[in-house]
Amino acid sequence: MPMKVTIFNGSPLTSGNTSALSSILMAKLAGRGAEVEEIMLFQKNVLGCNHCDRCRADDLPLRCSIPDDMIRLYDKFLDSDLLIFASPIYMWNLTPCTLAFITRLHCLCRSPDGHNLMKGINLALALTMGDEADVARHAVDSMSEFCEYFLINFKGDMAVPFADKDEILSGKHDEDADAFLDEILPQS
Ligand SMILES: Cc1cc2nc3c(=O)[nH]c(=O)nc-3n(C[C@H](O)[C@H](O)[C@H](O)COP(=O)(O)O)c2cc1C
Repeated sequence: MPMKVTIFNGSPLTSGNTSALSSILMAKLAGRGAEVEEIMLFQKNVLGCNHCDRCRADDLPLRCSIPDDMIRLYDKFLDSDLLIFASPIYMWNLTPCTLAFITRLHCLCRSPDGHNLMKGINLALALTMGDEADVARHAVDSMSEFCEYFLINFKGDMAVPFADKDEILSGKHDEDADAFLDEILPQS
């Protein structure tokens, strides 16, 4: 069975820097035998968590009550062997649609070491930014803490500083992308 990889792309641009990076990663993953799917989060109707706590009630265990596109995305999140959050850095953080998606994962866990559907998931970050890579440190730290708390395996991150889609597509970051995939994919 091929490894299932889902890339959650949080850029609003379908042909911007992050999509260029995502397309490179997708091609390389396919070349390594993985089955890859990209989901453009900005095109989905996914609200942030509203803290209704219905997911804590017994009638809706470990699922969300907000009837939007997230309902269909939970299975993608839970059934993938590896998740890559690809996002531009906006104001030192992941994009709002990516953060909204992440808040909606709240329902998947009641206690980290008890009812926790996220335990053991493999997750990595692929980030683009207009400045140097250091601007991503808050986003990387917070995702790494998020993973630690929910017992998710944080596999690593790749950053493309001073991102330029033409440079990305012309292969300038291919070596970094290969090293990133070596780091986050299981060794055969
Ligand atoms: C609203 C907004 C906020 C941004 N904030 C940052 C930032 O804090 N640091 C940075 O280096 N680049 C920042 N950028 C630049 C983007 O991260 C960069 O251009 C990125 O590669 C865009 O990816 P995209 O083409 O996929 O949208 C910002 C861009 C926008 C539109």
